[in-house]
Amino acid sequence: MLSVDMFIMTSTSKLKLTLSLQPQLWIKQFHLSCCMQKKRPVKLKSKHSHSSQQWLQRQMKDPFVQQAKLQNYRARSAFKLLDINNQHHILTPGSVVIDCGAAPGSWTQVAVNKVNSLGQDPTKPKGKVIAVDLLFIDPIDGAVIINKSDFTHDDTQKQILTHLEGKSVDLVMSDMAPNASGIQSMDHDNIVQLCRTALTFSKLVLRPKAAFLCKLWDGYETGNLKRELGSVFQMVKIIRPNASRKESSEIYLLAKGFHKH
Ligand SMILES: C[S@@+](CC[C@H](N)C(=O)[O-])C[C@H]1O[C@@H](n2cnc3c(N)ncnc32)[C@H](O)[C@@H]1O
Repeated sequence: MLSVDMFIMTSTSKLKLTLSLQPQLWIKQFHLSCCMQKKRPVKLKSKHSHSSQQWLQRQMKDPFVQQAKLQNYRARSAFKLLDINNQHHILTPGSVVIDCGAAPGSWTQVAVNKVNSLGQDPTKPKGKVIAVDLLFIDPIDGAVIINKSDFTHDDTQKQILTHLEGKSVDLVMSDMAPNASGIQSMDHDNIVQLCRTALTFSKLVLRPKAAFLCKLWDGYETGNLKRELGSVFQMVKIIRPNASRKESSEIYLLAKGFHKH
């Protein structure tokens, strides 16, 4: 479940306390948060310490991690959405957006800002952002957050519909990622299943010409998913944002121009 992009804003004091008590536990449970720490990582005695330290050092050198900190984003993945949006303009003032798999919330932060859901710019229409995740997401002004909820469950989707108050949706985006097992084909199947669930839901709520964005780990189902999207959208594109890590098989499918069959 934990991705390298997540939890970069977790409480420093909690980290320090945990580290001083149980360094190995800290590295397993909270290592993702460390990217925002300025201190160099301590030497660890476990057999994993070398790779863990390499990971920590890479995190600290990562320019997207540094930028996320400077710009107050909760995760470096904000820059993936910003990159996609710069090129494809999917987030505009007044848009209604559903953010699936939103924790810790950096995409939601970007969306709130771009759709003007707080009404910061009174000359532009006010949008709406609904964010959902299995995990708890700290509140984000301008977003409706559905915490600790599985997007694939009917109850969660009903909650989203309630929050929509009859509005149709301009963009469904899924950055959902299941727990990775390390078995590539299984992880691929699982993430594609999440994309398909998001697509099925999208068909119920998207307005004509709306857009859909989903993340997957590239694999044998990519072509099929792309074709499925192509049957209900005018255009489908595979995107690899600059902020995606070079070694990752992560890709995004962006579909625009929703139409019912
Ligand atoms: C890579 S993170 C998302 C990062 C987020 N876009 C951001 O910028 O902060 C993937 C998220 O998908 C969530 N997730 C995975 N399966 C889910 C499901 N069935 N329902 C809701 N969220 C899910 C995980 O809990 C995790 O927080």
